[in-house]
Amino acid sequence: MEKFLWGTATASYQCEGAWDEDGRVESMWDNYLHNNNLEDGDVASDHYHRFKEDIKYMKDGGHNTYRFSLAWPRIIKNINGDVNPKGIEFYHKVIDECIANGITPFVTIYHWDLPQFLEEKGGWINKETVEAYIHYVNVVFREFGKKVKHFVTFNEPRYFIFSGYKIGNYPPALQNTELTIKGSYYVMLANARAISEYKKLNLDGKIGIVHSFAPVFGVDDTLETKIAMRNADNFMNNWILDTAAKGEIPIDLLTRLSTKYNLSYITPEDMKIIKENTVDFIGLNYYARALVKPYTEGETTLIVNNAGSSAKGSSKVIIKEWFEQVFDPASKYTEWDTEVYPRGLYEGIMMVHNKYNLPIYITENGVASYEDVSGNELINDDYRIEFLNDHIAAILNAKDEGADVKGYYIWSTMDLYSWKNGCKKRYGLIAVDWENGLVRKPKKSYFWFKKVCESNGKIIDRRNV
Ligand code: BG6
Repeated sequence: MEKFLWGTATASYQCEGAWDEDGRVESMWDNYLHNNNLEDGDVASDHYHRFKEDIKYMKDGGHNTYRFSLAWPRIIKNINGDVNPKGIEFYHKVIDECIANGITPFVTIYHWDLPQFLEEKGGWINKETVEAYIHYVNVVFREFGKKVKHFVTFNEPRYFIFSGYKIGNYPPALQNTELTIKGSYYVMLANARAISEYKKLNLDGKIGIVHSFAPVFGVDDTLETKIAMRNADNFMNNWILDTAAKGEIPIDLLTRLSTKYNLSYITPEDMKIIKENTVDFIGLNYYARALVKPYTEGETTLIVNNAGSSAKGSSKVIIKEWFEQVFDPASKYTEWDTEVYPRGLYEGIMMVHNKYNLPIYITENGVASYEDVSGNELINDDYRIEFLNDHIAAILNAKDEGADVKGYYIWSTMDLYSWKNGCKKRYGLIAVDWENGLVRKPKKSYFWFKKVCESNGKIIDRRNV
């Protein structure tokens, strides 16, 4: 029987460091963070130099898989598409090290570190970036496609496009709805084109997409709330998942957008490609649900808490005339104002299963906190163990009800650079002591998760979900 994949996840920019070593060129994140004097990932967890130690921890921790991403700026060095052999060599070493340790590599091709030379030409709002991406994926498939059986085209298109083009807290730091829609469309086109390239090569593997999943719940059962929920679902989920899994952009979404925005770049030829090239599996990153009510008043507002330590309600989502997100006073929230709601993962998996009937991987799930990792005693993160237990319980319950969930990845393997939140937002099962030579210190949750992996989930307490 196919074994369930139990592991952890990282992303290149967030853990590798070595930002200008061995021919790696500048990414849009290097450029943006350096030029704005913000905390950067120049060193991060130094995984570039310590990947063997990190993979050894995975093996010793009972993991049988590792989700990581490839850095495009390590692999492709200029606008002509020339390949950097040192970048290729590095990822061969990581993949080989995984395989030698019985760890299935689960490879994300794009986790947000666009080469700056492409950003300077317009990034994701320039259709030429789709061509550059197709060149890059072909290099990836030809180099690694015999060893890697699970590829992900994109990590969280909605999240990085909205953050970069609408909220403006990620590079290229714009606040423009027109460009947000266009960028989203080109990314989804690039996804379909990459799938088409992959299929042409007849490799023995699967390809999917990873979505920032926010299953939508309503505050009540009224018709108004149901309409708000549909709007929220289109906004949060459908334009990625319907497009990737069914090859269709939801028609009510398109109709609504077309009354206000110029969508003439959406062509029948592209839509044919999108229709014919859908994903083999869906990856869901689950941190929290979206609880919504009908829109009442105010301008569109999207505020993300990147500061930590603040009160409930410091994040805000209002989409004018569509819906408003609300906070449940009964729920617990993290220091970054993320709701803790494991039941939402169970319900969400069932929604996706019933709608798309495809294999599902939970490609990220985890919780962050400020943690003092300076001492030598075991870092007690019981709160994380409770969080993970309840989310894994939700997955096992969904599996019992027939959802085809094939794997689970905790975010993150070790502490890493958490984008605009910096390194103080710790997600890892293994601490990285940045003040003390980046030494690795497995937390209590690491040893707990080892038992989960080794028992294939049998030690999970399923009573609370
Ligand atoms: C996901 C991303 O959105 O959530 C990760 O795929 C990210 O890259 C993770 O780090 C947690 O978000 P944050 O903002 O707390 O780092």
